[in-house]
Amino acid sequence: MFQIAPSILAADFCCLGKQLQEASKAGIEMLHIDVMDGMFVPSISFGMPVIASIRKNCSLFFDVHLMVQDPERYISDFVKAGADSVTVHVEACRQIGKTLQMIKEFDRGCGIALNPETPVEQVLPYLKWVDMVLVMSVHPGFGGQTLIPETLEKVAAFKQFRSEKQLDYRIEIDGGVNMQNIRRVVSMGTDITVAGTAVFDGDISENVKKMREVAVNAS
Ligand code: DX5
Ligand code: ZN
Repeated sequence: MFQIAPSILAADFCCLGKQLQEASKAGIEMLHIDVMDGMFVPSISFGMPVIASIRKNCSLFFDVHLMVQDPERYISDFVKAGADSVTVHVEACRQIGKTLQMIKEFDRGCGIALNPETPVEQVLPYLKWVDMVLVMSVHPGFGGQTLIPETLEKVAAFKQFRSEKQLDYRIEIDGGVNMQNIRRVVSMGTDITVAGTAVFDGDISENVKKMREVAVNAS
């Protein structure tokens, strides 16, 4: 069964705690946390202090997406702040294998992400080590963008690779998922759909309920 992971980048930070409770009441189990450093991506979002403070009152699974150059510098800080899984970009790491190994040594979920222009071949050699592959369906750095349809072919490719090699990583799609396209996104074999704007714009529980109804028989 697929999962919706709301991206808090689209939340209202004046009432973040309340919105997370609403998301949890709506049956959300995983939170997507977009960390942006202004170097690897053009914008800056938030860092360890925000994660540590929401960790105190939130038992959801923290899926931390590091859009950070040379993220190996910060893995232990994000684990300490409360990350349950850490995803790094293949484009941002000098030695991606070592960085993934570092995450695993903290006994946390380990994810590898690729941008829309990055071919799947660049991540295939590492998939035996990861718990999740994150397919960017927009160019990273901002919420509220339009999903790039060609990126969905990567979902199908990772699904095929997983069964051929008998691996068990999950496939996450990130960026521009909404009511109109979630059915197609899930039908391609996505396990986790990140949704920021589509969840936090308007009534959270309504949005989550509707997205589930639209997608449920596509999985
Ligand atoms: C973009 C982030 C995405 C984004 C999703 O760089 O990685 O997680 O916040 O937001 P929406 O769903 O609004 O595209
Ligand atoms: Zn993200």
